[in-house]
Order: sequence, then C-alpha cells, then structure tokens
Amino acid sequence: MTIDATVPNVARMYDYYLGGYHNFAADREAAEKILEIFPDTPAAARTNRRFMQRAVRRLSEAGVRQFLDIGAGLPTQGNVHEHTDGRVVYVDNDPVAVAQARALVEGDERVSVALADLRDPEALLADPDVCGHLDLAEPVAVLLVSMLHFVPDEADPWRLIARLRDATAPGSHLVLSHLTLDGVDAAPARQGTQVYRGASAPIVPRTRADILRLFDGFELLDPGLVWIGQWRPEPGEDQVSHGYGGVGVKR
Ligand SMILES: C[S@@+](CC[C@H](N)C(=O)[O-])C[C@H]1O[C@@H](n2cnc3c(N)ncnc32)[C@H](O)[C@@H]1O
Repeated sequence: MTIDATVPNVARMYDYYLGGYHNFAADREAAEKILEIFPDTPAAARTNRRFMQRAVRRLSEAGVRQFLDIGAGLPTQGNVHEHTDGRVVYVDNDPVAVAQARALVEGDERVSVALADLRDPEALLADPDVCGHLDLAEPVAVLLVSMLHFVPDEADPWRLIARLRDATAPGSHLVLSHLTLDGVDAAPARQGTQVYRGASAPIVPRTRADILRLFDGFELLDPGLVWIGQWRPEPGEDQVSHGYGGVGVKR
C-alpha cells in the first residue's frame, strides 16, 4: 500500500478533529486551517458520531440485523459494531482506513471490511466482503454518515443512493448525515471549501433541499431530516451541528 502523506486526507483530517492519532503533518495542517475558520468542528464531529451511534442502536432495537457502513472512516471510538450485535460491513475507498479497520476487527466473524468506492455501486455490492457477508434479500441499514459531501454532483449521489435502495430489500434503512453551509456567511464558507480543494477529496456542502432529495424512495422516520444533533438526542450530548441527519425506511 502506498500512502501519500503530503496530501491532506479527508479521513485523517476527520480523525484529527476527533482527537485520533492516525494522521500526518499535512492532515493536521489542513485540519488546523479549518479549525481557525470553524473552531467548533471537533464538537460537530462528535455530534455526528453520536448521531450514527444512536441511529444504529435504535435500528438494532427495532430488529435490524445487518449494517453496511459506507465511508466508515478510520476506526475511532464507538464504531458501528460496538453499538449493535448484528452483522456489520465497513466500506471505505481509503486503503489506510480499510487496513486499520481490518486490524481492529480481525477474528470477529460478525464484521467484515471492504475496500470499495460508492461511485461504483455495482462493484461495491459485488465485493465478496460485502455480498459474502450480508444477505441482501433481508433488510439492511445502509449508513452514509458524513461522507456524501465528498461525492460531487457529477457523480450523481442521488442516483448512487437509488441504486443501493433498489438493491436492498423492503424494510431496509438509509442512515445519512451531510454537511451544509446553510446559514453560514459567504466568506468562511468559501475559505473552508477552499481548504478541502487541496485534499484527497474536495468537499461539497449541500442545501437542506438537496439533502432531502437523497431520501427519495425512503420514508423518513421521526423526527425527519433535522440538524444532526437534534435526531433523537440523548442527555449530555454535544449539540453542535454542521449538517443535517435523518433515517429513512424503504417500504
Ligand atoms: C468524514 S469521514 C466519516 C467517517 C464516519 N462515517 C463518521 O461519520 O464518523 C468520511 C469517509 O468517507 C470516505 N469516502 C469519501 N468518499 C468515498 C467514496 N466515494 N467511497 C467510499 N468512501 C468514501 C473517506 O475516505 C472517509 O473515510
């Protein structure tokens, strides 16, 4: 595996926001630029993790037994398989994130890890670590948590989700959170987006209306598409939200 430590990597920048150690100087330098513009980014990253964990717990309690976490990122505290006793597949297109995840879950038959890219959904679904581990004839919760803002409009994230929706059984869920710049002044918005232009993936914040359309063909569960921290919050959790989150079900 070759790692270019000189290009800021979006998975490792996020790891840095969360206080992790899987990052290099270039990642930290770019992340620090974001922190100068948006100092509450670490709190927002924690809010996002908590959203994912709550969604996984609620769906597990409701009987969902399979989780496909796409854009899973570098393993950090409170990974999906620690919040469910169902089967879990972690997917990322970053080889370092995949290698770290494999090292973490080695020997755990409940969990599998695939190196795949959402932009090629056919290859992702056909990957033996995905289709050999999950039964797609049974409901699956597909997680796209804080990752679709790395998929540009040209790759048509709406079509990619529709493909996953069509490949999964009725009763499957979509767990999604997404960065927005709704309500952010133009200057910091431009500066923040600029920092990611030099990173492994540019960032594409979207409006609430565009994020809502990602749920086409799913019925949103209560409380709908809301600020990430407002999705069924639990006492004592961070409430700094840099985006919207929601959970939908395919009927
Ligand atoms: C900000 S991290 C989110 C990690 C985790 N889902 C969370 O919310 O805590 C985004 C992850 O998406 C991954 N990613 C970006 N584009 C991707 C793509 N097209 N296919 C698969 N993974 C992708 C990145 O490598 C990174 O690990």
